[in-house]
Amino acid sequence: MKIVTELAELRVARRALDGSVGLVPTMGYLHAGHLSLVERAKRENDHVIATIYVNPTQFEPDADLDSYPRDLERDFQLLRDAGVAIVWTPNDQVMYPAGYQTWVEVTEITQLLEGAQRPGHFKGVTTIVTKLFNGAQPDRAYFGQKDAQQVAVISQMTRDLMLPIDIVICPLVREADGLAMSSRNAYLTPSQRQAAPILGHSLSAAIEQLENGERNAAALQQHILQILRSEPLTDPEYVSIAHPDTLLELETVADAALLSMAVRIGKTRLIDNMIWRANENDL
Ligand code: PAJ
Repeated sequence: MKIVTELAELRVARRALDGSVGLVPTMGYLHAGHLSLVERAKRENDHVIATIYVNPTQFEPDADLDSYPRDLERDFQLLRDAGVAIVWTPNDQVMYPAGYQTWVEVTEITQLLEGAQRPGHFKGVTTIVTKLFNGAQPDRAYFGQKDAQQVAVISQMTRDLMLPIDIVICPLVREADGLAMSSRNAYLTPSQRQAAPILGHSLSAAIEQLENGERNAAALQQHILQILRSEPLTDPEYVSIAHPDTLLELETVADAALLSMAVRIGKTRLIDNMIWRANENDL
């Protein structure tokens, strides 16, 4: 496995790969959710390039950029074991050298949900992902449904800019007790960690209501909030019942809904989501 930092080193290593390339962009501190993307990329491509870069432009001022968990050596070992060909670990000097002035912005769906709570976040994501695409030049790029809006925004950007890359969306991976895996789970104290699966449980309860015929979005939202509020450590920021493609809020659920939330537990902000479809075979 080649570990490269500079763009010139990446270009040399990339040119040496014959056949198809799958890209897995990450911010490191890898868990089984990240590794599920790597495994899928490995199955579907001749080679896998993974990137590890904690991108400062997608963190709002005063957010957790400085405290974001890092363990590069462990990440390298996990990626080596998973059969990754190249790991690109650019630094701020490589990505945003002095005089940097170009941004990629998706204008509409970035204003909703996470974008409404975190102004500027998606502009940082779309800019860095474009740079990672241009550096790695993959045939396919793998993203997790954990970040539902991120996959919608990146899919939109890829279509709009005619990028020659297939975006592959991978299922959300959970811990055995239902907590969505996240590098940020490392921030939770033991009692907070114990409380955290309530996010996933509240979503499952709403899915069950949908299965039982409930179609009123406000009722579903209230049901989720009621469950979240039964746990004193949770502080819900938003609970949304939206269309999975447009991300627009629904009044009445028709054939599909994205149920999503951001919840604070202490200082830690967790997100979770589930998609419901009337016909499970629909894509
Ligand atoms: P990061 O949070 O490290 O996540 C990297 C990729 O792993 C994303 O596509 C994310 O959706 C996926 N992922 C995280 N937790 C997951 C889980 N529990 N199940 C399935 N997939 C999961 O997302 C980012 O980094 C950054 O925004 C990035 C795209 C790298 C741009 O900086």
